[in-house]
Amino acid sequence: MNGPILVTGAAGFIGSHVVDVLRSQFPDRHVASFDALTYAGNLDNLAAHRDDPNHSFIHGDVADRDAVRAAFDAVAPTAVLHLAAESHVDRSLVDPLSFVRTNVMGTAVLLQEARRAWGDRTDVRFVHVSTDEVFGALGETGSFDAHTPYDPRSPYSASKAGSDHLARAFHHSYGLPVIVTNCTNNYGPRQFPEKLVPLALLRAVEGGIVPVYGQGQQVRDWLHVRDHARGLVSTMRDGVPGSTYVFGGEAERKNLDLVTDLLDVVDAQLGRPSGTSRAFIRFVADRPGHDYRYAMDIEATRRDLGWAPSVSLAEGLRDTVAWYLANGPWLERVRSGNYRAWETTWYAGRQ
Ligand code: NAD
Ligand code: DAU
Repeated sequence: MNGPILVTGAAGFIGSHVVDVLRSQFPDRHVASFDALTYAGNLDNLAAHRDDPNHSFIHGDVADRDAVRAAFDAVAPTAVLHLAAESHVDRSLVDPLSFVRTNVMGTAVLLQEARRAWGDRTDVRFVHVSTDEVFGALGETGSFDAHTPYDPRSPYSASKAGSDHLARAFHHSYGLPVIVTNCTNNYGPRQFPEKLVPLALLRAVEGGIVPVYGQGQQVRDWLHVRDHARGLVSTMRDGVPGSTYVFGGEAERKNLDLVTDLLDVVDAQLGRPSGTSRAFIRFVADRPGHDYRYAMDIEATRRDLGWAPSVSLAEGLRDTVAWYLANGPWLERVRSGNYRAWETTWYAGRQ
C-alpha cells in the first residue's frame, strides 16, 4: 500500500489538515487533492503544498462520474480518503437536496469508481469519513460508539447516514476494502466561519452579535482538527477493512460555556478587559430539531489504533483564536458573496 493517495474535499477544513499530515508522514507518496471548490472549499487551505512535486490538485465534483473516473485513471490511487461533503446542518435545513446529491450520490459514484479501478484488490483502502450525528441525540448521560444504531435527525445527518450505509454495503457486497469513521465536532484553523467556533470568535473580534441558539444548553464534544486528521491517517494505515473507528475529544461542553470560554480567549489575545466580549452574546431562535447532546466513547479506537486526542480544549481554543487573528487575508477571501448572503438570510429574524 505505498501508492498515491486521493483525498476528496481536500480544499475544505478537515481535508486540508489531512493533506498536511499525509505529506509529512509519507514524503514519498503522491497526494492528489480532489475538490469541487464549493463555497466551503478554498485553495488557500492547500497553499503549503503549492510547489510540492508530490502534491497535485484536481478540480472536480464527486457526483460527476466522468470526473471521478478521470481522477482514478490519472492518479491510480491505492488509498482514498473521502471527505468531500456538504457539511453544515443549518444549510441542510434550507437546501436538503444538495446534501443528498453530494453526500449520497457523490459517495456512491466514488465507491463505484473505486470498485471499477480496483476490482478484487485487497492491498487498497477506501476511508469514508463521517460524523457522530448519524447516531442521533443523547440525553444527559451515555455516549455513542461504533455499534450505536443509526438515528439521524437532520437532512445533513440523514444524507451522511445514507453515505455510510452505501460505504458498508460496498464492503459487504463486493469486498471493497472500506473503513468508516465517525467523529464529533472539530474546531481549529481554516474552519469556514459559518460554524460555531469561528463564527463566534470573529463576531467578537469585530464587535458584532454572537448568536447562541436557544439557551445554549446543548452539549457538543470538541476535537482539534489536527488530532482528527492524524486519526484518519492512522485509520488508512492501520485500520481493518469492514471496521468502523470513532473519534472524539473527550471534551464535552454546553454551547454557552464553550462560547464564553472562547470569548475570554479573544479578550485575552486582544488585550481587552476580561469579560468584554461576553456582552456580545445574544440568545436567538433555536435551530429546528436541534440535537441535544453528542458524546463519543473512544476507548476502542485508543486500543485498536493507538490514537488519542493530544490537544486540550483550552490549548486548542488559544491556537484557533491566534490563527484567525493572524490570517485576515484568508478570511477576506472566504467571505465571498455566498457567505454574506448566507449570514443575511439565515440570521435574519433570529437576533
Ligand atoms: P467543509 O465544508 O469545510 O469542506 C468540505 C469540502 O468538500 C470543501 O472543500 C468543498 O469544496 C468540498 N466539496 C463539497 N461538495 C463537493 C463535491 N460535490 N465534489 C467535490 N468536493 C466537494 O467540511 P469539513 O468540516 O472539512 O468536513 C469534511 C468531512 O468530515 C465531511 O464529510 C463531514 O461530514 C465530516 N465531518 C466533519 C466534522 C466537523 O466537525 N467539521 C465532524 C465529523 C465529520
Ligand atoms: O458532530 C459533528 C458535526 O459537527 C459535523 O458532522 C458537522 O459537519 C459540523 O458542522 C458540526 O455540526 P454542528 O451542528 O454540531 O456544528 P455547528 O458549529 O453548526 O454548531 C455547534 C453547536 O452550536 C450546535 O449545537 C448549534 C450551535 N450554534 C451554531 C451556530 C452556527 C449556535 O448556538 N449558534 C450558531 O450561530
